[in-house]
Amino acid sequence: MMKSCCTYTTGVLSIIILIAGIAMVVTQVFQNFLNNRIKREVVLENGTEAFAAWQDPPPPVYMQFYFFNLTNPKEVLSGERPAVVELGPYTYREYRPMEGINFMDNGTKVAAVNPKTYVFEPNMSRGSEDDIIRTANIPAMTLMERFQGTWLERIISDLMISEGEGLFGTRKVGELLWGYEDPLLKLLKKFLPSLDPNFGLFYKMNGTDDGEYVFYTGKQNYQDFARVDLWRGQSSLDWWTTDQCNMINGTNGATFHPIIAKTEKLYIFSSDLCRSIYATFESELSVMGVPAYRFVPPSTVFANTTVNPDNAGFCVGGNCLSSGLLNVSVCKQGAPIIMSSPHFYEADEKFADDIFGMRPTKEEHQTAIDINPLTGIVVQAAKRLQVNVYIEKLSAFSQTGDVRTLVYPVMYINESVLIDEESAKKLQGVVTQANVVINVPFIIIGLGILLGVVFIVIICRQERSAPEERQPLLSS
Ligand SMILES: *[C@@H]1O[C@H](CO)[C@@H](O)[C@H](O)[C@H]1NC(C)=O
Ligand SMILES: *[C@@H]1O[C@H](CO)[C@@H](O)[C@H](O)[C@H]1NC(C)=O
Ligand SMILES: *[C@@H]1O[C@H](CO)[C@@H](O)[C@H](O)[C@H]1NC(C)=O
Ligand SMILES: *[C@@H]1O[C@H](CO)[C@@H](O)[C@H](O)[C@H]1NC(C)=O
Ligand SMILES: *[C@@H]1O[C@H](CO)[C@@H](O)[C@H](O)[C@H]1NC(C)=O
Ligand SMILES: *[C@@H]1O[C@H](CO)[C@@H](O)[C@H](O)[C@H]1NC(C)=O
Ligand SMILES: *[C@@H]1O[C@H](CO)[C@@H](O)[C@H](O)[C@H]1NC(C)=O
Ligand SMILES: *[C@@H]1O[C@H](CO)[C@@H](O)[C@H](O)[C@H]1NC(C)=O
Repeated sequence: MMKSCCTYTTGVLSIIILIAGIAMVVTQVFQNFLNNRIKREVVLENGTEAFAAWQDPPPPVYMQFYFFNLTNPKEVLSGERPAVVELGPYTYREYRPMEGINFMDNGTKVAAVNPKTYVFEPNMSRGSEDDIIRTANIPAMTLMERFQGTWLERIISDLMISEGEGLFGTRKVGELLWGYEDPLLKLLKKFLPSLDPNFGLFYKMNGTDDGEYVFYTGKQNYQDFARVDLWRGQSSLDWWTTDQCNMINGTNGATFHPIIAKTEKLYIFSSDLCRSIYATFESELSVMGVPAYRFVPPSTVFANTTVNPDNAGFCVGGNCLSSGLLNVSVCKQGAPIIMSSPHFYEADEKFADDIFGMRPTKEEHQTAIDINPLTGIVVQAAKRLQVNVYIEKLSAFSQTGDVRTLVYPVMYINESVLIDEESAKKLQGVVTQANVVINVPFIIIGLGILLGVVFIVIICRQERSAPEERQPLLSS
């Protein structure tokens, strides 16, 4: 009697456990529980970890500059191809806290400014800010382009001769980045009072913010977490049509992003590009022991308008550039600046072929962002962009000699971040926990199956030993 009771209990239990496990899988209770917990934490609210990380991101962000030193200026002026040598990195630690934080609309939105401060890191650099770089004279090229055919043409040409300025010149790294007083601009200010005599690729960018942002906090909808609603008072919907120099859907370097799927299109705002670009899933990898999805901008982001009509905003008068280049002249005060990937990676081959010293490689020159899919936390990212100047022969200016039409590379940046060890450990813990929690229903199903097997084995055994066991029963 005892034995058969046990046997039945085992059978019933195995069925109950099996049903419970399957029900858990079907209703996804544990997934929902986990998602709800993450949703609760992924909100910008005074006191949450997400808020602290958004306000002052813990992992260090580094901005690295690589300059191209021109070795054959005379030959270039007589029509030969430029030969350049890459120098750097010149590395800066980037501090980017949110300031002037102001919660609005019952905590569904938050306004803030995001000033960036750059501090030179000699130990992570090769060379110093005093290194001399020979490169294109961007102020002169801008003035020549802008004023050719006007009354200022002769004046600019004469001033360049008297100042000994040419199409190429030498400057210190620190000057090229953070600004210097340009002699030509200074003299021309007499004729154009509104002209700023200073020039630098990052002039006035240290410690200054680029206007007020309004972010969604994610309180209403966690998928809106840290998404930009307004920038400088303009809604994201207006930007594309009214001002090409703005972003569309930006997360603006946010540390968190809603739980990520492989099909997601990530919008990344880039003030260097004056617009947002998007990235799509590329591969799975592990960063500091944390599983991650790698997202990279598809080649269509930089494609010509035939391939990607979205880039039409960057054509002027039907004059479009080839694949791999973006004309950002409109957002750089008319300077003939053209953006590309470093070494013209993924651009039309002719651009790299035009310059001796270009060696585009995927690992070194692509932009990539690695995100932990469970939490949406960015574990590693590298934004890589090259600044080029459009150079052409201008007959009114003898300074341009016989130069061929060139997209001339000045420098490129690698703005990168890697999760710090402490956060990585914490994240590993969360991922392990989540894996255990998500696997609970399957463990339960396994248990059910195991009990079922035990039940079947017992039944079989009883069947086999049945004749002997029944005898005493019959005789009594
Ligand atoms: C967050 O709360 C702390 C203490 O409760 C307070 O000092 C701080 O000003 C608050 N921050 C914001 C942005 O409201
Ligand atoms: C804020 O919440 C209060 C009360 O819940 C509500 O009356 C008010 O309309 C809300 N305001 C906004 C801007 O959502
Ligand atoms: C930027 O500003 C900070 C603080 O004012 C200063 O420490 C740092 O040296 C500056 N960086 C550059 C490149 O001038
Ligand atoms: C760059 O080239 C110029 C001109 O040839 C040279 O004087 C300078 O030392 C070079 N810079 C570095 C850092 O090698
Ligand atoms: C921006 O996001 C909104 C809502 O998420 C979406 O409807 C819109 O299509 C996005 N804009 C672009 C240009 O992708
Ligand atoms: C755009 O690129 C495609 C593919 O590279 C090429 O076939 C097409 O001719 C290009 N269009 C223009 C206008 O340059
Ligand atoms: C870049 O755009 C500017 C104005 O937005 C235009 O004047 C210039 O010709 C364009 N450059 C090239 C190379 O297409
Ligand atoms: C940034 O990119 C450059 C080249 O693309 C690479 O040499 C460098 O190691 C990268 N820096 C970081 C911190 O990943």
